[in-house]
Amino acid sequence: MKQRGASRAEKVETLIMNQPKHSDPAAPLPKLLLDSALRQADEVLLVGVTSSENGELKAVGSAFSPRQTEELARSLRSVGAKGKALELFRLPAPSDLNVTSVLAVGLGTEEESEDPERIRRAAGIAARALGDVSNIATTLSELDLGATVEGFVLGGYKFDAYKSAAQTEGAKQLRLLVDHPRSAQAKADLAHAQSVVESVCAARDFVNTPPNHLYPDSFAIRVVTFAKALGVAAEVLDEKQLAKGGYGGVVGVGQGSSRPPRLVKLEYRGRKDKNAGVDVALVGKGVTFDTGGISIKPAAGMEHMTSDMGGAAAVAGAIFAAAKLALPLNITATLPMVENMPSSTAQRPGDVITHYGGKTTLVINTDAEGRLILADAIVSACERDPVYLIDVATLTGAQMVALGARTPGVMGTEEFRDRVSEISRSVGEGGWSMPLPEELADDLKSPIADLANVTNHRNGGMLSAALFLKEFVSPDVSWAHLDVAGPAYNTGSAHGYTPKGGTGVPVRTLVAVLEDIVQRG
Ligand code: BES
Ligand code: MN
Ligand code: ZN
Repeated sequence: MKQRGASRAEKVETLIMNQPKHSDPAAPLPKLLLDSALRQADEVLLVGVTSSENGELKAVGSAFSPRQTEELARSLRSVGAKGKALELFRLPAPSDLNVTSVLAVGLGTEEESEDPERIRRAAGIAARALGDVSNIATTLSELDLGATVEGFVLGGYKFDAYKSAAQTEGAKQLRLLVDHPRSAQAKADLAHAQSVVESVCAARDFVNTPPNHLYPDSFAIRVVTFAKALGVAAEVLDEKQLAKGGYGGVVGVGQGSSRPPRLVKLEYRGRKDKNAGVDVALVGKGVTFDTGGISIKPAAGMEHMTSDMGGAAAVAGAIFAAAKLALPLNITATLPMVENMPSSTAQRPGDVITHYGGKTTLVINTDAEGRLILADAIVSACERDPVYLIDVATLTGAQMVALGARTPGVMGTEEFRDRVSEISRSVGEGGWSMPLPEELADDLKSPIADLANVTNHRNGGMLSAALFLKEFVSPDVSWAHLDVAGPAYNTGSAHGYTPKGGTGVPVRTLVAVLEDIVQRG
C-alpha cells in the first residue's frame, strides 16, 4: 500500500509548531550601580572632556583631585585631544587614580555638554568602543544620570541570539558616579532610565528577530508573555476570530501566508478610578515580513522588510514602559500582525475588502498593506473613545525620500501632531511635523469602493498614506501618526547610541508623550 505522507498544510503546520515559542535571550543588558567614588581597581574610567574657548581641556569629574585633573588634561593634550564632540581617546590612568585606564570622550564646550543628547551619544560611542571591557565606572553621570544610562546601554546593545558559538561575554557592569548616590533623586533617575532602556531594547529585539522566527503567531505570543509579566492585560484574536469579527484588512493582507494573522490587544490600567476611560490608544503596524504580496518588491534590499513590524514593536515597548513606570494613565495598544506574502491565496490587485467598522477599500497595490491592517486596528481602538490616538508604522518608502533615514514624519491633528513632534526632538528621536494636503485625499477616491489604497501618482506618498489612515480615525480624537520607515531600522553603520538593525525608535518619543500627558493632560 502506498504510504500516505502528511498533507502540505500539515507539514507547514508542524514546521510552525516546532519554532521556538518564546523570546530567545539577546545579550544581557549592563548591570547599573550608583556610587560616589572610584573604589574598584579593575575598572576602566569613562570621562567626558569639555573644551573652553582658549582650547583648555577639562575632564569632568568632581572626584578628581586638582592634581589628577591637571594630569588628565596633560595626557589629553599630549595625544592631540581637542574635546570635540564624539572624539575618543584611551589614556593610561593618572597616578594614584584607582582605575586600569581612562576612556575620554569629547563633549564640546561646557555649555554643549549640558545637552542630554550630547551625553547620550558620547556614552553610546564609548560603550561600543569599550567592546569586551566588563568593569566600567563613569563620571558622565554627574552631568546627566539618565542620559548616561540611556546612551551607554542603548549604544552597547548587541543582538547575538542567533550566533551559534557562545559569544556572550556576560553582563557588563557600569558604576555611575554621582554626588549623592543614595538620594531619592538619583535612585528615581536610574530606575526611570532603566525602564526606558529595557523597553527600547525589547522593541529592538522584536525587530531584530528574523522573520522565520518572528511571525504573527510567535510575535503575538512574545508580546503577550511580556505584557502578562508586567500586569498588562492581553487578548489575541486568531485568524478565525478576525474573519468572524470583520477585520477585512488584516484578513486580506494575511491571507497569502501559511502563517495566519493575529490581532493583539493590550490594556494597561494605571488610573486608580475603576470607571476611568481610555486616555491613550496606541496602534502599531506589525507586518512581520513584507514581500509586497502579489505587487511584489524587487529582490535588492527585501531582507530589510524584516523590520516592517517596527511600529508594533515600538508600541509594545511603550506600553511595557508605561507599566514599569506605573504611569497614572489608561492605555490600550492594538497590534495587527500579518505576513504579506504572494501565493494562490493572496489578495489580488483589484480586490475590494471590507474593513472593521464597514468601510470598503479597493486594493490597487498589495504592497500598500500597512494602511489596510492599520485601518481595522484604528477603528477598533477608537471604539474605546480614547482622548489621544497615536499610530506608529514603517509605512512608506516616501518617508525616507522626504526626510531621510533618521527623521520620523509626524502627521495628524495639528495641535497634537506638533506636540508629539516637538517631544520627539526633545528626546533625540527627531520627529518632524508634516501636512495633510486636502487635494491628496481626493486622489484616494475610488469609483467602486469608499477608498483606494493608493493614488495613481508618487507625489507626497507619506502624506497620502496618512490621509488614508485619517479616514478611519474618529473625528473627536486627537491623533498623531508616526511614519518611521527609515528611523525604525538602521541599514547603515552604528552611530551615537544607535546600533545597526532595530533602533527602538520611537519608543522614547512615545514614553515622553505619555509622561507629558500625565503632566499636562
Ligand atoms: N513597508 C513598506 C514601507 C517601507 C519601505 C518601510 C522601505 C521601510 C523601508 C510599505 O508597506 C510599502 O511597501 N509601501 C509602499 C507604498 C506604495 C506601494 C504606495 C512604498 O513605500 O513603496
Ligand atoms: Mn508594503
Ligand atoms: Zn509594509
